Amino acid sequence: MNREEMNQQEKLGEMLYEGKAKQLFAVEDDRQVLMHYKDDATAFNGEKKGSISGKGEMNNSISAMIFQLLERRGVKTHFIEKTGPRDQLCRKTRIIPLEVIIRNVTAGSMAKRFGVAEGTELSEPVYELTYKNDDLGDPPMNDYHAVALGLASWEDLELIYSYAKQINGLLTPFFLAQGIRLIDFKLEFGWVADSEEPLSEKIVLADEISPDTCRFWDAVTGEKLDKDRFRRDLGKVEDAYHEILGRLERASYAE
Ligand code: TMP
Ligand code: ASP
Repeated sequence: MNREEMNQQEKLGEMLYEGKAKQLFAVEDDRQVLMHYKDDATAFNGEKKGSISGKGEMNNSISAMIFQLLERRGVKTHFIEKTGPRDQLCRKTRIIPLEVIIRNVTAGSMAKRFGVAEGTELSEPVYELTYKNDDLGDPPMNDYHAVALGLASWEDLELIYSYAKQINGLLTPFFLAQGIRLIDFKLEFGWVADSEEPLSEKIVLADEISPDTCRFWDAVTGEKLDKDRFRRDLGKVEDAYHEILGRLERASYAE
């Protein structure tokens, strides 16, 4: 953290939460939070620990650009604005403790679980849920588990899947136009107060979308441009994040 950011942080309220890659701080308006992106990287539920130089700044920029793009296309998100190199102001949400995974191409845990080669095309996208719980290592969960355990209702899940489909439908062609295949990614959703309907709440997209939470493969060479370079010790980790950031910046200048 540099001096300017430290000074900025002194004006902030208490740290509300510290996760593996981000910290959340209170701000004056208690309906908002400041999300601070760290360079820390973990894999395999924190078993592998490290740091990716510049990741906080790169993921803050990458995620801000993607959330802005989604907002422009009508997706409701927690994002308000980028306020510093590693900081963004967001609406405070009550996170639904589910990780929603969307897969367009077989990779990672799905390839392993079903003995299918990584890179095998799927005839249609696959949607998975995991229970967001570090102590349990984010175990896989199905819709019935989520409803029976009171994490979400059937109506909430229907909405979450429809948002996940819409986001995949927007991001897959967008990334392809930048020469990137969106292999799979993870989304999180949260509840916020509904400004249009007093006293009620609505579900919005929350957390981040970045090379930490997506698999990105170069469309021509197949090179991995995401956190798998860290998970699998493939080297050139920073370069991969930088490449994604550069392509998104070129896309936003072109818009
Ligand atoms: P997986 O193949 O390991 O199940 O990962 C699927 C996608 O979800 C991949 O794009 C990486 C992302 N992901 C996260 O964002 N957080 C996690 O904790 C895990 C395990 C995966
Ligand atoms: N979020 C997982 C962890 O904490 C890592 C992953 O992305 O694979 O360690």
